[in-house]
Amino acid sequence: MQKQPQSDSAITPIVWQGDRLELLDQRLLPHSEQYVTARTSDEVAQAIHQMVVRGAPAIGIAAAYGVVLAASAVDGDNWRADLTAALQRLAASRPTAVNLRWALDRMGVMVKGMQRPDAGRLLAEAQAIHAEDLAQNRRMGDLGAALFGSPVQVLTHCNTGALATGGYGTALGVIRSAHRDGRLLHVYADETRPWLQGSRLTAWELAKEGIPAQLIADGAAAYLMAQRKVDWVIVGADRVTANGDVVNKIGTYSLAVAARHHGVRFMVVAPSSTVDMHLASGAGVPIEERPASELTQLRGLSIAPQDFPALNPVFDVTPAHLVDVLVTERGVLQQPDVPGMKALMGG
Ligand code: MRU
Repeated sequence: MQKQPQSDSAITPIVWQGDRLELLDQRLLPHSEQYVTARTSDEVAQAIHQMVVRGAPAIGIAAAYGVVLAASAVDGDNWRADLTAALQRLAASRPTAVNLRWALDRMGVMVKGMQRPDAGRLLAEAQAIHAEDLAQNRRMGDLGAALFGSPVQVLTHCNTGALATGGYGTALGVIRSAHRDGRLLHVYADETRPWLQGSRLTAWELAKEGIPAQLIADGAAAYLMAQRKVDWVIVGADRVTANGDVVNKIGTYSLAVAARHHGVRFMVVAPSSTVDMHLASGAGVPIEERPASELTQLRGLSIAPQDFPALNPVFDVTPAHLVDVLVTERGVLQQPDVPGMKALMGG
């Protein structure tokens, strides 16, 4: 398979192949490295919904390529309406990460300016979104790592690495840069129940990089903080609202509460495409609920009584006052609040 030079971590989860999109199937990692082929925008939407590809920036990038596939398929007088409908179906594939809507808005602006469906111009825009995300990740990696005066022990949640982005990663990008710069002692990776992004994906990326790390049960985090084994919690985000609230993988809020209680610093790393200045606070963000079976079964094996009810919200809201530092490619914001967010985003 022809690989594109997006990632210097040798992990290429999103590969454009001229007439189709190849997506590394994150449901199968770490046991099997297989690509799913999407030849239509609806196949891309389905891949996002089913979490073949996941992570806020990555689903935005995949959706942008989905628009290219849609533009290649529309024809005739109704092309604009058909393309708009395809964009809407892509936007509906997952509700919480604002990067999806951000990327589709950007592609939609291009579509508006076209007299005919121009897949070539849309491809250039999708590739720009992809390449910009990778460059922003590297910048955030440098900015975040520069905050560590002496080598640190960190705890991270979910997967925020090359798999979740255009390459390199957000929170995991800071961890990569800190490791490169000799500023990292140790990483604790939360397993991240129930989808296990931590144990299946983050551990896989850390092992590939040779970064010193241990997997922990989600419930072990506060205990390790009490033992003074964690200097920083570093996480990504699916949406940061105008007041600095952070919506991220379920369990992030508990980590922030525990970190504040133990005097551990809490860093959020997210590109400006994750910031939603239209929403005043995290209370307005739609929180995705996924099937109960993600909790009650493990690879088809039942781990709860038959038909026992389960509730599976997959994101939560961390109030801004629990965040010590927000790192974006535009700069570092200490103690995010409304004026700080406005200054950062230029609004
Ligand atoms: O449900 P997921 O795996 O898509 O959730 C991903 C996260 O919550 C990440 O922390 C977030 O998208 C930031 S990834 C750079």
